[in-house]
Parts: sequence; C-alpha cells; structure tokens
Amino acid sequence: MEFINYEAEGMVGVITINRPKALNALNSQVLEELDQTLNAVDLESVRVLILTGAGEKSFVAGADIGEMSTLTKAEGEAFGKKGNDVFRKLETFPIPVIAAVNGFALGGGCEISMSCDIRICSENAVFGQPEVGLGITPGFGGTQRLARIVGVGMAKQMIYSARNIKADEAFRIGLVNAVYPLEELMPAAQKLAAAIAKNAPIAVRNCKKAINDGLQVNMDEAIVIEEKLFGDCFESYDQKEGMTAFLEKRKVEAFLNK
Ligand code: CAA
Repeated sequence: MEFINYEAEGMVGVITINRPKALNALNSQVLEELDQTLNAVDLESVRVLILTGAGEKSFVAGADIGEMSTLTKAEGEAFGKKGNDVFRKLETFPIPVIAAVNGFALGGGCEISMSCDIRICSENAVFGQPEVGLGITPGFGGTQRLARIVGVGMAKQMIYSARNIKADEAFRIGLVNAVYPLEELMPAAQKLAAAIAKNAPIAVRNCKKAINDGLQVNMDEAIVIEEKLFGDCFESYDQKEGMTAFLEKRKVEAFLNK
C-alpha cells in the first residue's frame, strides 16, 4: 500500500494514514487502501484499532481538494458515497476504533475521527468543517455525526461558520475525550487500547453494537437490542471465566474471544 501503514502488535492494530506531503488528505486511493486495510484486519487476534496520521502536523487535512475540484454532480455524489461507505465500515467495525488525532482534523479529517468510537488528540490538533468556504457541504458524514456528538446548535455553528477550533475547545464541547502533549498521544492511545483489549472481547464488541444500533431506534426497541446482546454473552467461554474468577476470588486467567 502506498498511503496506509498497518501494524498489529498483539491485540492492538495501528492504522496510519500516510500521505504527509498532502497533510494526509483523503483521495480515492487513500479511501480504497483504507477499505482494503479494514477488510484484512485479523479479528481473531486484534481487539482494538488505533487510527492516526503520519507526521507531526496533521491527522487528516480533509478530502483531497485537487481531486474534488473538477467533479461533476454525479461524480461528487459518488465520491461522497465512497467516503461514507468506508467511514461507515469504520463506525460499524466489530471492534473499537480509537482516533489518535495528531494535528489537523479538517473536513474529511474531522469526519473520519467522528466515525471512530473514541477521539483523543494532541495539543496541536485543530478540528473543523471548512467545507462551506470551499462551496460544498461536509460530504463524509459531517452534517450527521457532528450534531450527534456535540449537539445540533454547536454543530450548526461550526459547519455554517467554517470556523476551526483548537484542541481545548474540542475537549470542552465533547468532540474529544482527552488532550495530550503530542509525544504523549500515541502512548496514551496504546494505554487506552490495552485497557480495552484486556476485557472480554465478545462483551466489548456487543457493547459497541448495542450502543451504535440502540442510538438509531426508540428506547423500547433499543433495550431489546441490549437484551439480545446481553443474552449472547452467556453463550461465551469468557462470561463463564469472568464470573467464575470473581466467585473464586481470583484473577481472570485469560479471555479467549470465544
Ligand atoms: N487536499 C489536498 N491537498 C491538501 C489538502 C487537502 N484537503 N490540505 C493540504 N493539502 C496540501 C497542500 O495543497 C500543500 O500541498 P503543496 O505542498 O503541494 O502545495 C500541502 O498539503 C501542505 O499544505 P499547506 O502548505 O497548505 O500547509 P499549511 O500548514 O500552510 O496549512 C492547512 C495547513 C491549514 C491544513 C491547509 O493545508 C488547509 O487549509 N488545507 C485544507 C483544509 C480543508 O479545507 N479541508 C477540507 C477539505 S473538503 C472536505 O473534506 C470535504 C468532505 O467533507 C468530504
């Protein structure tokens, strides 16, 4: 792959968008390689993904403006679908994905971070949806996910004004969960990933699915989704080991993802 690096170490996989000359902007090739990378993740061994950008300046500076500049209406719609399909794959990926936002997260960069389960960032991170300043709408989910994460009023203000915000403001409005000095960002992401990975993986996956699917429906349907995924866990070895360990007052030997 030219623009995506993927490294799995133990139970944690790190995906790095690696196009630093263009501040990791997302062109079609980057999107295709990201899609292929996700398809190839070994879900038997990997329990958490971290998504970050190459270099010290930018996470992802958006969709590729050069590539978009000549698109027709139909091509624009198709490009939006291409991004949306990959981002949705990320959002519904069976295991949690942590965005380690190490700099600019603008347009498609803010949008891809919002497709991840958890966002943490470095002090130099900048978030924003600058699209209306380019004559377009956010096209990779920004009009939908930003409002769901930070609330409608703040999302509309950010999107209509195209004003970028710094890490501290992103933290204040709940767009990121924590801010770290740049050199501490990846260690913090790894630490969080390890904390997630040591828990029962089927239970963690079911939590992700319950939260994601439940948010799409009304509360009566949502609790039924939870009940089914809760019930599923009782078929697992890991539930038996987790509860037996508690009752025997010992540590869990190992969760085996089965
Ligand atoms: N697309 C294509 N190339 C990009 C890019 C992008 N989104 N962002 C940066 N680059 C390229 C620049 O063109 C430049 O390339 P050259 O060296 O070949 O000229 C290189 O990356 C470095 O960028 P700058 O020289 O501009 O770096 P800077 O430090 O002066 O500025 C920046 C950094 C503020 C992030 C600025 O690059 C910028 O404003 N980028 C565009 C951000 C943006 O508008 N993103 C939204 C895109 S639209 C979108 O994403 C639509 C959607 O929702 C799907």
